[in-house]
Order: sequence, then C-alpha cells, then structure tokens
Amino acid sequence: MSDSPSDKPASRPHYLQTVAVQPELDIASGFASFSPATHRGSTVVFRNLAELRAQGDGTTTYWRYGLHATPTSEALCQHLALIEGARHTLLLPSGLAAISLVYFALLKSGDDVLVPHNVYGPNRDHGEWLARDYGVSVRYYDPMDVAGMAAMIRPETRLIWMESPGSVTMEVADTDAIVAAAQARGVLTAIDNTWSGGVYFRPFDKGIDISVQALTKYQSGGSDVLMGAVMTRDDALHDRLRRTRMLMGWGVSADDCHLVLRGLPSLPVRLAAHDRGAREVAEWLHQRPEVARVLHPALPDCPGHANWRRDFTGATGLFAIILRARYSRRQVDAFVEALQLFAIGWSWGGAHSLAVPYHVQGMRPAGTWPPAGWQDTGELVRLYIGLEDTRDLIADLRQAMEAKLGAA
Ligand SMILES: Cc1ncc(COP(=O)(O)O)c(C=O)c1O
Repeated sequence: MSDSPSDKPASRPHYLQTVAVQPELDIASGFASFSPATHRGSTVVFRNLAELRAQGDGTTTYWRYGLHATPTSEALCQHLALIEGARHTLLLPSGLAAISLVYFALLKSGDDVLVPHNVYGPNRDHGEWLARDYGVSVRYYDPMDVAGMAAMIRPETRLIWMESPGSVTMEVADTDAIVAAAQARGVLTAIDNTWSGGVYFRPFDKGIDISVQALTKYQSGGSDVLMGAVMTRDDALHDRLRRTRMLMGWGVSADDCHLVLRGLPSLPVRLAAHDRGAREVAEWLHQRPEVARVLHPALPDCPGHANWRRDFTGATGLFAIILRARYSRRQVDAFVEALQLFAIGWSWGGAHSLAVPYHVQGMRPAGTWPPAGWQDTGELVRLYIGLEDTRDLIADLRQAMEAKLGAA
C-alpha cells in the first residue's frame, strides 16, 4: 500500500492513514465455536441520529455505551441469571463493588440497615463508613438468634443483609425466619451468596430480594479475575440498582467477562469436586486431637447445620477449624506456614488450596466470640480445598500439625 490515492471511488478510503483507521475487510461468515465472542467497545456506533437519540436514559438493553453493556457482558448476565434463578444481573468490577452498589442504591441518610455479626469484613467496613460519614444507621444481629429479628426492625429499616454461611466462622443462618420478618415489615433482603456459588442455595426461591456474588471466586475459578454481580427477580428493584450503577460509572471489561464466561460450563462439576474434597478433609480433621471444632456446614459441629440441611443442596470448598485453646497464636501461625500444598492467600474459588489463620475476636462486635458454652476454643484457621488430590492435602496437614503443634 502506498500513501497515494488509489483508484477506488471517492467515497472509499484513499490514504493509508484512513485505511489504517477504516479498513475494508472481507471476513468469511459462518464461523462457529463454543466460545462467545468478546465484544470490546467504549464507543457504540449508531446507524443514524434517530437511533442514537432513541437510547434515552438507557432503560433498554439496546446498546448505548460500552460502560453499561456489551453483547459479552450481556451473555454473562443472562448465563448467571439462569444458573441462580434470577431475572436480572448487574456486573460490577469486584464482589465488594457489588456489595457497595446494594448499599448505595437502597440507603440514604436516616435509613437503617441490619448486618450479621459474621459478615464479610469489607462489607462491615462499608457499613461503618456509611454510618460514620453518611448518616446511615448500621446495627448488627446474631445470625444464630434471629427469633428477635422482627423486634429489631424499625420504621426506618430499609435493608437486612445476610451472609450464610458467614465469612470465616461459617454459621448457617435461618434465612427463612429473617425473610419472614423482613417481608412482614416491607424491608428488603440481600444475601452475599458467594459461598454456594449460586448453585447450592437458591435465594430467589426463598423470597430473598437480592443476591450478591463475588464472581472472583467460583464462577471465574481461575484466581485471575475480579468481578461481582448483583442479581434480582424484581423489575423495579433491578431498575433502581441499575440506575445507581450507571451514576457511579461502574462497568466491567469484556475480556474479564470472557474469563468468567469460560468458567461457567464447569461450575457445577467444579463445585461438586470442591464439596467432595472439603468434606473428606473436614472429616479427617474432625478426628484430629489438635482440633477443637470443625466449622463445616455439612458437619454437625457447625452452628446452623440443620439450616444447611434444610436449605442447601451441597457444600463447597471453604470451611474453618478451631484449634485447641492450648496452642498459641504463634504456634498456629507456624502450623499454617509449615503447610506446603496450601498457599497463604485470601481469595478462594480457584484450583489451589489455601489456609489463613484468623484471630476472630478482633473481627466482630465485642463479646460475640466465642459463642457461649464453647469449650477449649483457640485460634481459627480458614481452609479452602481446591482441586488437588485430598490424599496429598491430608498428608500435608498431618506433617504440618506434627511439626508445629506437637504430639497431642
Ligand atoms: C463472602 C465474600 N463476599 C465478597 C467478597 C468480595 O469479593 P472481591 O474480592 O471480588 O471483591 C469476598 C472476597 O473474599 C468474599 O469472601
């Protein structure tokens, strides 16, 4: 190609720089694959001004601006909604941004929100921030004692958060009782449903209004992408959340959507493998003299085990153990650091197993840990069972216990 006029008609690109921007390509049609196309795009191109102006405020899914939706993000939204039984999905740049969207869309100064003691730490921090700087009232409830929920609801209560099992301490709440109390007073409910992957717990069938997923975890499955989702069945509620998302300018990249889409076909079989592996490891740990309690929702030791049996169709890879009180924090740290196949890291949901020690007292409202009546309760270690062979994982746990926690 020379930088001189071609012999094409005048309406065609003549100069190399124009051809570089607007090449006339001849791509054969008929390509088919299992992979959805990745449509990147900030600018959406309209055929004429009437079409551009018809976009209005973007209330349709008709393409308007890359920040709001692309065919790739739309494919992910629909796929996620089908898995979790929702009607609408909004994508956010992280699970925490999804939590934040719920707070900002539903609360204003003077409103009240109820949050469980054991909620994911950054969710609690978010609530505290709104309470400190935005005049929202944030109150905590015990997820294992929800009989008094109706009495806790005030005229200004707008939202009840649930997370079940709760982060780190794994209590499974009686969500039916919470929803009944909320519905009786017209209060919205939202659940962080990340632990179940949206597969083993069906929030909308339980009457919960909003489900939040950290897609960063199981849906992605690769430990290499951050994304969150807010799902609803109700059209008006979705619209409220959607408008806030637009105002905040929260969008996701098509490449990240593609990464999450790659994970969805294998989601149920991966979850089943995590479930199998985690139960095997949890049952082995249950027999160990170093371990005071295994907080795995499918084991009877876990607070709310009966709720798990009633409401869930499976368990997944994340659970916790409580070591006996005789082990110091330093010994428990040494045990975790002696593990060779478990990495030290926060974000679970991928193929690799993880371990993190927690000093729970510092993470919750004072006096709420350990639960009344628990004996011999020491430090907590959260374990995530990836997709390795459990025989190797158990051997690793055994060697680290023998090396650092001594003979029991
Ligand atoms: C229960 C739960 N919810 C939400 C999140 C937030 O997800 P993200 O890391 O995508 O912000 C996490 C992350 O650890 C989590 O464990």
